[in-house]
Amino acid sequence: MDVKQAIESRRSIRKFTNQPVSEEELQALLEAARLAPSSCNCQPWRFKIVTGQADIGWLSGSGSKGQGWVNTAGAVVVCCADTSRFLEDSKATVRLLKDSGMLPPRMLEGLEEYMNRAEKAPLEAIRWAAATNCAIAVTQMMLRAVEMGLGTCWMGMYNEEAVKERFAIPEHLAVVSLLAVGRPAESPQPRPRKPMEAILLR
Ligand SMILES: Cc1cc2nc3c(=O)[nH]c(=O)nc-3n(C[C@H](O)[C@H](O)[C@H](O)COP(=O)(O)O)c2cc1C
Repeated sequence: MDVKQAIESRRSIRKFTNQPVSEEELQALLEAARLAPSSCNCQPWRFKIVTGQADIGWLSGSGSKGQGWVNTAGAVVVCCADTSRFLEDSKATVRLLKDSGMLPPRMLEGLEEYMNRAEKAPLEAIRWAAATNCAIAVTQMMLRAVEMGLGTCWMGMYNEEAVKERFAIPEHLAVVSLLAVGRPAESPQPRPRKPMEAILLR
């Protein structure tokens, strides 16, 4: 399967068989996430893997605001963003680039301007920036899952405080999405997409 095929055949899967997802498969998904690009290579993603019927069952109830279909998932990846290291890790890369002497002065200026703005940004803005980076990592997991015959569904609806408490997620991490993973027990038709002319600005 090539990337085009994975992109075209991916669907949100909300019904899974009861066959478990193996540790090796979960590791392969995490590896796809680990290799994702990020702003200033800051890699703010942190993941908690949830398996086990009691926890999955909880996630299908109050944890996900009642998304009962989650109950059939083999695993749920809790995707978190480390907002506490976002600036520090970004600055380390900027320093490296600066020290390398390889960046033209105008680009260096642009990067420093970006970092100065980021330093003054409220936590909510840092959270959004970190979440954007995490979204790329989750997308890579979803596409790798397709290649491996696994199904996924991104979940943006969940109770962040309750999820953090249940899985002992440290305070400085924001839960930015959940990813349900399992063996598909449905093959949905493609969901509608806007036509090219509706998204392309001319
Ligand atoms: C940011 C985001 C949040 C989402 N949240 C949920 C969710 O909480 N529950 C759910 O069942 N699907 C959720 N989805 C899946 C979307 O409903 C789905 O991607 C969309 O309808 C298109 O269908 P497709 O993924 O099969 O192409 C979410 C997707 C994204 C990208």
